[in-house]
Amino acid sequence: MTKGIILSGGWGTRLRPLTCFTPKTLMPVVNKPVIERQMMLLKEAGVKEIVLAVSVLADALKSYFKDGSKLGLKVHYTDEKHPMGTAGAIKLAESYLKNDNFFMLNGDVILNFDFKEMLTKHEKYGGIGTIASRIIEDPTRYGVLIVDGSEKILKFLEKSEYNPPAEERARPMPINAGIYILEPEIFSYIEPKKKISIELEIFPKLAKEKKLYQYPISGIWKDIGQPLELLEGNILLMKDILKSVNLKEHKDNLIDASAKLEGRVLIYPPVTIGANTVIRNNCIIGPNTVIGDNVYIDENSEIKESLIYKDVYVSKNVRVEKSIISDNCLIRDDVLLQGNEQKLVILASFVEVLKNIKIIAPTTTDLSICHHEVVKESIS
Ligand code: GDD
Ligand code: MG
Repeated sequence: MTKGIILSGGWGTRLRPLTCFTPKTLMPVVNKPVIERQMMLLKEAGVKEIVLAVSVLADALKSYFKDGSKLGLKVHYTDEKHPMGTAGAIKLAESYLKNDNFFMLNGDVILNFDFKEMLTKHEKYGGIGTIASRIIEDPTRYGVLIVDGSEKILKFLEKSEYNPPAEERARPMPINAGIYILEPEIFSYIEPKKKISIELEIFPKLAKEKKLYQYPISGIWKDIGQPLELLEGNILLMKDILKSVNLKEHKDNLIDASAKLEGRVLIYPPVTIGANTVIRNNCIIGPNTVIGDNVYIDENSEIKESLIYKDVYVSKNVRVEKSIISDNCLIRDDVLLQGNEQKLVILASFVEVLKNIKIIAPTTTDLSICHHEVVKESIS
């Protein structure tokens, strides 16, 4: 029976401070951790056992998923004291995975395609590995695949190895979408007890030996490794969920039945509102906004193009745009949080923003506030 392994042990540095205490893979996308959404897709494809390759902040993942029974899955964890690289990490799970082919996923991508179909293709190709691929306008931030007409990968070039001349840098190329099906033979390519990158050291070798294939995927796909990507990924997934809901229920928004919208609340779709959230009179919400569970938004506030995680209190006359507000934040009256097309305002958990404060992100860098800070002066 095909199993799965999901990589979830990186540092998540580009998402700090959001990832100081919470692993990147537990970041909510439409109010559920990105990795949980992957696990459910694997389950739909018939996978019953999943190994989580954890390292940095491993305990957070262990206490969230435990033995997996709540999701109807059997979940195992590897013991990786320090990050061992993407190949080193799976080597530690060899005993779980050695008997059959298995799915391997980067735990920080949102996607929606049929894993079963990929498995059928993989078995037909007959290689050691099949890599889900996607054509991207600017491939330079990803692993790039050079392929032939029969989906065989001739070269695998991880981002640091892909250096085309300047005029070709923005040429669309198939990239590694971070989802693989591998045969147990892969383990014989990975030396034990060493930090090894599958993208830098193993895939290039398999490509040379002509044992690697691509599987072009359709549907949504996004790596949420950077703040703007996290915001865009949430919006992308929300629209995708609405598309399938729409077929049955003609909904424009995902509003939980227990959420309370009091008085005159204007909603510009698409918007998600979580359980027990209260939004009071004269608020304007959306478009492109995801609000978590147990959030309170007081009168005359406006939230757009933003994410608000759970247990947040937003007071009166607050404006939030292009921002991410983590759980347990407290935003007092007349506050302005304003990001822009490139960069966001980011509040880590338990931040308090005092009355009348304006936090405005520059166009060059995200403006982030660390956990438990009390913002007493405006920042721009
Ligand atoms: N257990 C473990 N140990 N997990 C790790 C380690 C490690 O040493 N290093 C990274 N990971 C996990 C991360 O937590 C993440 O879920 C996944 O591996 C990928 O790491 P990223 O740091 O997000 O890599 P990337 O986004 O720059 O590039 C990768 O993903 C792209 C697609 O999103 C590469 O695989 C690229 O080739 C690919 O195009
Ligand atoms: Mg990534």
